[in-house]
Amino acid sequence: MINTKKLTTCSKDISLAGNILKNGGLVAFPTETVYGLGANALNEEAVKKIYEAKGRPNDNPLIVHIANKKDIKPLVKQVTKKAQTLINTFFPGPLTIILPKSEKIGNIVSGNLNTVAVRMPQNEIALQIIKEAGVPVAAPSANTSGLPSPTKAAYVEDDMMGKIDALVYGGDCEFGVESTVLSLASEPPVLLRPGAVTKEQIENIIGRIEISKAVLEEMGENETAESPGMKYKHYAPKAKIILVKGDKETYTRFVNSKKDCHALCFEDDDGVTIKKVTYGKENDDLSQAAELFDALRKLDKIGAKKVYAHMPHKEGVGMAVYNRLVRAAAFRVIDLTKPFVLGITGQTGAGKGYVGKYLSKLGFKVLDCDEYSHKLTKKNAPILKVLVQQFGEEIVENGTLNRALLAKHAFSNNENKKKLENILHPAILQECRNNAKGTFAVLDAPLLFESGAQNDCYKTIAVCAPIDIRKNRIIKRDDLSEKQVDLRIKAQPNEEYYINNSDFTVINDGRDIKSQIDRILEAIL
Ligand code: TXA
Ligand code: MG
Repeated sequence: MINTKKLTTCSKDISLAGNILKNGGLVAFPTETVYGLGANALNEEAVKKIYEAKGRPNDNPLIVHIANKKDIKPLVKQVTKKAQTLINTFFPGPLTIILPKSEKIGNIVSGNLNTVAVRMPQNEIALQIIKEAGVPVAAPSANTSGLPSPTKAAYVEDDMMGKIDALVYGGDCEFGVESTVLSLASEPPVLLRPGAVTKEQIENIIGRIEISKAVLEEMGENETAESPGMKYKHYAPKAKIILVKGDKETYTRFVNSKKDCHALCFEDDDGVTIKKVTYGKENDDLSQAAELFDALRKLDKIGAKKVYAHMPHKEGVGMAVYNRLVRAAAFRVIDLTKPFVLGITGQTGAGKGYVGKYLSKLGFKVLDCDEYSHKLTKKNAPILKVLVQQFGEEIVENGTLNRALLAKHAFSNNENKKKLENILHPAILQECRNNAKGTFAVLDAPLLFESGAQNDCYKTIAVCAPIDIRKNRIIKRDDLSEKQVDLRIKAQPNEEYYINNSDFTVINDGRDIKSQIDRILEAIL
């Protein structure tokens, strides 16, 4: 345990902070983005201590902070033309640039890469401390690795007391999200982390840049992120966060129906009645950035377990806010602008209807393909003409479909079956889409995969039951002989087919179905 000195911003304390840094100690100090945890960037022993205090993986490189624009020169191989233009425009400020490193930069600070990240903060206290130190200062955000970055001194206290030599108390950070990180080590330059300096602003100055895939999307297991920091769990509070995309009304209706949950919403989401923490205003991305990390830490302090966060837009500084929040949510997103459909499938008699009924009690709307099929083929329906053309005049009498006769024709051979499906499936699917608009729905469809309807589903659930249970159910329900039931069962794919193609399985053999479904919903909602 180290006795962490609490320092003010008086000149005596600033010079003390600078001295501690110069001599190999760790000092946390405010910047305009978030609090940083500084060490002498040219002293590998000092830099090692940063990784220890934060619990940071040692392949995740640090940003080197300077107090004068010209101080970048000794740290990099070459200050390119684009780099110089960016320095002239955005330094000091919340932009970090990456260039091939000079031999002055050690392997620990650069996480063994051959590049170095450099930034000149605009916060006066930060600048003075770096000047006092007289050396470039390596400084990641001053949080425990994986937690939200600290935007207030109190949060640095929570994470770092007893682990560092000093903390300079300098008020709340202005921008609240970490600097924009841009790599100039490749052409075109690549945006590795969005921040308060936006993509549009950079492009206005140096032309087109690329956005690293990891900025907005989840990386696959075998993909490598261009910035090592992107592959680690980030900004994660203890609570489970779920991002919810939707306008004010839809979001409000959705969260207000939730029990034992918290909302992380905008100040203007005034209709939200469940417990809430706000992060800025809906149309003000700078206010969202300034308050986001504070809000995430507050949610932990009040013991929130599950949090539905109102999704910000992704333009301008909104891209930085979204980037942090979607990581805090481990990429869990519910898109209320699209229908949220759960597909239920399985063999005949397995209990799809029962599962549908339970979900409908929970507020889901059941999209019943059988019902739509009947509706589409009712008396004088236009689709009957198409069926007549394919299967003959006799299947329709006085405008009414003879269903038994159609079934006989259609199931006589595979080709006819396909013909019927090609006519009915697109129409049924359209009916499902019309009915699913703006709601939570379950799609009850034995032919979920064959019809292509699974593409409209958020997740799919297979309902399974042992064959004797299914047989008894069908015999009772549809008043069929055992032989007829066997034929029906035989006409369907086996159980593995449904299980392998679905995201989840519910087993209906006397086990509690409700708790199985509750668990599935817990995993996806
Ligand atoms: O606003 C900020 O940048 C704050 C304040 C304290 O200045 N610092 C900060 O540092 O956010 P840190 O270490 O929490 O985030 C630095 C990010 C990491 O994602 C890291 O992987 C990336 O920058 N990075 C650093 N050097 C890099 C390099 N040479 N190549 C690619 N990515 C690099
Ligand atoms: Mg960080």
